[in-house]
Amino acid sequence: MTHGAHLKPAVAQKSGPLAGTVRMPGDKSISHRSFMLGGLASGQTRITGLLEGDDVLATGAAMRAMGAHIRKEDDVWIIDGVGNGCLLEPEAPLDFGNAGTGVRLTMGLVGPYDFDATFIGDASLSGRPMGRVLDPLRLMGVQVSAAAGDRLPVTLHGPRVAAPIRYRVPMASAQVKSAVLLAGLNAPGTTVVIEPVMTRDHTEKMLEGFGAQISVETDGDGVRTIALQGQGALQGQVIDVPGDPSSTAFPLVAALLVRDSDVIIRNVLMNPLRTGLITTLLEMGGNIEIMNARVSGGEDVADLRVRSSELHGVRVPPERAPSMIDEYPVLAIAASFARGETLMEGLEELRVKESDRLSAVAEGLKINGVDCDEGESSLRVRGVPDGANLGALRADCVVQTHLDHRIAMAFLVMGLASERPVSVDDAGIIATSFPEFMDLMTGLGADIGLVQEPA
Ligand code: S3P
Repeated sequence: MTHGAHLKPAVAQKSGPLAGTVRMPGDKSISHRSFMLGGLASGQTRITGLLEGDDVLATGAAMRAMGAHIRKEDDVWIIDGVGNGCLLEPEAPLDFGNAGTGVRLTMGLVGPYDFDATFIGDASLSGRPMGRVLDPLRLMGVQVSAAAGDRLPVTLHGPRVAAPIRYRVPMASAQVKSAVLLAGLNAPGTTVVIEPVMTRDHTEKMLEGFGAQISVETDGDGVRTIALQGQGALQGQVIDVPGDPSSTAFPLVAALLVRDSDVIIRNVLMNPLRTGLITTLLEMGGNIEIMNARVSGGEDVADLRVRSSELHGVRVPPERAPSMIDEYPVLAIAASFARGETLMEGLEELRVKESDRLSAVAEGLKINGVDCDEGESSLRVRGVPDGANLGALRADCVVQTHLDHRIAMAFLVMGLASERPVSVDDAGIIATSFPEFMDLMTGLGADIGLVQEPA
């Protein structure tokens, strides 16, 4: 599972109009949670539309290693779960590859169990902070052994009986909120999570769907108090995973930037805690039509029609960050082609993603001719409307992706509209979240390809 040293360089070139209809693969956040809750619940869970990216498959492998039976028949993933409280001790370290959501949520899920579980990952994941999840687990009585700075590899051993906690999430993080709630499933009594800044709510919604006793109260300042009764029964469910808005971002921005494009993107999750990018692009003058808005499996879903647009710069307020946290790399690309300046603030969490995304984006923009300023937690981009003079300044200007799928995809989108080509050092990492990316984009007419190595 760990991403190997063999990189797959790729290049994108200025493309003719993008046209056609695409259907988005499943949402990564919901897919991870479907495997986890399906593997934990009693009885059978049937999942359609699951994202079959490396990240999600790693979570499936971990659930298998702890006793869940998981198989695929035609297009349906079928899981026979173990029952809440009945996970088995894994015989080997659980390898999460590149997947922050997978490892952090699973640490929550198994932390309180009275057995050893060891977590490992690739070079990117091994550099990311795990203390944000380990700290609340320690409060529940979990013994933690971790590499320096609370990094992977991590071994957890839960107490005989875990203590339910009342925990205020110190940063805007759905992963931390979710890890504490999942840990609370295996503690007696009520686990309470206080969330000062609202983040994606898939864990709460899905826990309720699986039959957990969970309540959410929001006060006048928007602070949410989530209370979960531990040790209750969970029952397998039928899940149809909607398309991933974070993956949608790439064909969406590409269609806005490439002249004369007209693209329809079907099956997009429109949960309001995930649609900050669409709000921002509309403010920038993007021609995005939201069609067939509907509710599917308790989530808002729609199709999008996107046509080329002349964008203008905007200020993106910091409070919007949680609803578009994974979309800043590709927003920075949109901003590079917008008239005037775009200022993005409240980006401190970007520094601890699959890469330090703030510096990876700023570095990539600079070597492709974009005038930008990287602040401690902000990014200012001055755009060039027709992409004149944008693209690799020299042949050796290759974007370093640092094992970060979204850096790779964002810069490949850039090359479709810039005067000169844009190269990235590795497109292999894209398989973690969006294995269909290359085929889907070239199917729309994008000129993207792997760089053939000299024979
Ligand atoms: C996710 C939460 C976000 C996001 C990640 C998926 C989730 O991370 O960046 O890609 O599924 O809960 P943080 O919780 O660290 O903000």
